[in-house]
Amino acid sequence: MADPAVRLRPVGVADLEMFRRFATEPGLIGLDWSGFRDAQAPARRFAEDGYLGTEDSRLIVEVDEQDVAGFVSWSAGSYTRDAKYWEIGIALLPEWRGKGIGWRAQAMLCDYLFAHTPVQRIQAATHPENLAEQKSLEKAGFHLEGVVRACEFRAGHWRDGHLYSRLRTDPAPPTS
Ligand SMILES: CC(C)(COP(=O)(O)OP(=O)(O)OC[C@H]1O[C@@H](n2cnc3c(N)ncnc32)[C@H](O)[C@@H]1OP(=O)(O)O)[C@@H](O)C(=O)NCCC(=O)NCCS
Repeated sequence: MADPAVRLRPVGVADLEMFRRFATEPGLIGLDWSGFRDAQAPARRFAEDGYLGTEDSRLIVEVDEQDVAGFVSWSAGSYTRDAKYWEIGIALLPEWRGKGIGWRAQAMLCDYLFAHTPVQRIQAATHPENLAEQKSLEKAGFHLEGVVRACEFRAGHWRDGHLYSRLRTDPAPPTS
């Protein structure tokens, strides 16, 4: 099977329905489901800045120049006063999972963020049982840093997370 032709592009108005689905269909987003969210929030946010803000943003993951597979996101964090890092996230629609899209989209997002912003560090957290995301991050050039204990309240319990990072100086995997 040929490698999927993945690209990242800005959010358009037609993509808001997918965001509404992720906010209102239990479990569609996978383990990150944390209850119903405001279905009108995507339209408000899109009207504000097209999902391209200074502190958090989204891009659409598109396949073969036409199909919308999901989205990637990033938000700012800081361990020091003078510099920030990005924490990235991803959600693909179920029919697009397991086709080599997730790791490529996350590697492309790192390339994009390292090219356009001066951060030294991009991090990503995932669940101990999310093998697809763990492998996906490793293929995208991330390194496991450790277990963050009881960092997330999900499905009735406080749960551990796995923290990964890719530094500007880490090798970038080829995405095509
Ligand atoms: C997690 C996610 C982004 C991974 O992307 P994907 O496109 O499904 O994964 P890929 O096809 O790029 O696969 C990357 C690696 O993971 C492996 N993998 C994929 N799905 C897997 C699964 N369900 N179990 C174990 N390994 C899996 C692949 O085999 C591949 O490894 P390999 O090259 O050694 O074979 C995607 O499945 C998704 O959006 N899931 C729902 C939302 C989510 O969990 N987001 C992350 C929250 S932290």
